[in-house]
Amino acid sequence: MNIFQALLVSHQTQRELSARLLESKQASDESRHLFEELKSELAAHETAEERCFYVPLMQHDESVDLSRHAIAEHHEMDEMVEHLEELDPHAVEWSVCCQELCDKIEHHLKEEEEKFFPQAGEVLSEEQKQQLAVDYEAEFTALRIKQEA
Ligand SMILES: [Fe+2]
Ligand SMILES: [Fe+2]
Repeated sequence: MNIFQALLVSHQTQRELSARLLESKQASDESRHLFEELKSELAAHETAEERCFYVPLMQHDESVDLSRHAIAEHHEMDEMVEHLEELDPHAVEWSVCCQELCDKIEHHLKEEEEKFFPQAGEVLSEEQKQQLAVDYEAEFTALRIKQEA
């Protein structure tokens, strides 16, 4: 397992949760549950990805810009999640913002997978790619356990 394969596991979970959330009935128990799950998955993934992927990438001049861009998008998604939490789940605005969040997530995942991962692949050594996968998985799991507590 390398870091890219490890990151993809959560990317697929985020895609599945987004799709199920968009299909669910607005303001239903299922919709609330899926939103909470997506929020937790996203938060743990973003933090673990920043600590175990973007921070090491920042050490290389070639990948400073991509790291900044990705971390800025994490912040944008966090703000979208916070905004949704403040809205009435029955309001039309809620479903509009939910669609925007899911679109933003897909945009971000696609950009990472198609642009940033190949670029990162050129600056990280093979050994680093393996080690960062181990670090990321430990970090992600620890964050998920903290969320459940
Ligand atoms: Fe990301
Ligand atoms: Fe990611």
